[in-house]
Amino acid sequence: MGCLCCFKPPKAKEEPSYEKGREGKNTNTLVYLAKNLSIGSGTYKRRFVAEEILRIGNGNCRARVFTFAELSAATNNFRAESLLGEGGFGRVYRGHLRETNQDIAVKQLERSGVQGSREFLVEVLMLSLLHHPNLVNLIGYCADGDQRILVYEYMPLGSLEDHLLDLCPGQRPLDWGTRMRIAEGAAKGLEYLHDTAKPPVIYRDFKASNILLDRECKPRLSDFGLAKVGPVGDKSHVSTRVMGTYGYCAPEYALTGQLTKMSDVYSFGVVFLEIITGRRAIDMSRHSSEQHLVQWAEPLLKDKTKFVDMADPSLEGKYPRKGLYQALAVAAMCLQEEASSRPLISDVVTALEYLAASPSDPPPPPLSWSPRDGKGSDGEEEGKRKLHSRHGDQETSASSRDREDNMGRI
Ligand SMILES: Nc1ncnc2c1ncn2[C@@H]1O[C@H](COP(=O)(O)OP(=O)(O)OP(=O)(O)O)[C@@H](O)[C@H]1O
Ligand SMILES: [Mg+2]
Repeated sequence: MGCLCCFKPPKAKEEPSYEKGREGKNTNTLVYLAKNLSIGSGTYKRRFVAEEILRIGNGNCRARVFTFAELSAATNNFRAESLLGEGGFGRVYRGHLRETNQDIAVKQLERSGVQGSREFLVEVLMLSLLHHPNLVNLIGYCADGDQRILVYEYMPLGSLEDHLLDLCPGQRPLDWGTRMRIAEGAAKGLEYLHDTAKPPVIYRDFKASNILLDRECKPRLSDFGLAKVGPVGDKSHVSTRVMGTYGYCAPEYALTGQLTKMSDVYSFGVVFLEIITGRRAIDMSRHSSEQHLVQWAEPLLKDKTKFVDMADPSLEGKYPRKGLYQALAVAAMCLQEEASSRPLISDVVTALEYLAASPSDPPPPPLSWSPRDGKGSDGEEEGKRKLHSRHGDQETSASSRDREDNMGRI
């Protein structure tokens, strides 16, 4: 199948390439689709989305088109034992493709209505066109009848959340060096979206559960359903309905709906703070003064003598003191209230390359992960890791733990 490559990772300076749409028009695919997805309403819009999915299936992108029967066979009929987890989009199952001998993660859309279909389409398009070592690979999708299913490369270590915030008893916490390397890789994924992709992409959903880890613990950003193309031309922002996840959302975006790359930089700051402190962005199980990570951190970040108190206790003091100070300084810059005062993600990458390369304690043995019990296996046997509740309506969704933590979608 052909690929519409308006995104060319190796040559950042290249002009966007254009390809003839089916109608014979020259279209910059993402801009064209993003525009068209926001026109019309109700039934028309639904029909349009369905037609777009079919159009993609007719050979315009690299993703493979699966039948529902193929994915049923790959996941043991979507059996509970194959369940990896559940988020706002739906359930995620582990599967295996016999013909290519490939492990896959199969995400089955449960959100009905236009918003669900839109997110599905945006995700297929974005991941078909964007390629970078720090973005998850989309293998294909299924749009059989009412089914909307995404098929990804399987990430054996699960998500950053599983290793940082959701530790099972006895599970080894991430060491400092690994944390810095994960932050570096995740920032590089964002840098690619902001600075290399043409037109640029604002990710909008940067959070620990969307950072998946491969066998070598290298991070890959996943979940592009909320990603936005732009701003293009001389525009500084995209105006859009506020969506994302509580606790990670930049204040100016939450207030005005004006989305910029700096909103992603803010969310990066929140995740980086989670990485350093081992605390959740929102944690309702804590004392009221500590439930909101950024609010808790604000006064501490102004007082160097408090920096050591902010480090994740599970690190047991095994981190370079200077590295901790520098990491917290980077997080503080990303979390500036004033969006224009935040650093560009490329500057964050430069700082993190330095932090990740700085010597820390000798690295411990490689991580292993079994979703069933969270420890000590090579990740081959699978089961239900964490079961999130079903979503709400088509505009909002929240997982069960999200609701417990008041950390659901906006
Ligand atoms: N490619 C993959 N390989 C392995 N596990 C995956 C993969 N994609 C998702 N998962 C796991 O499936 C679970 C659910 O993921 P999903 O993205 O649906 O929800 P979420 O990120 O927890 O919440 P949200 O819907 O708000 O993004 C997560 O625990 C994630 O680790
Ligand atoms: Mg996710």
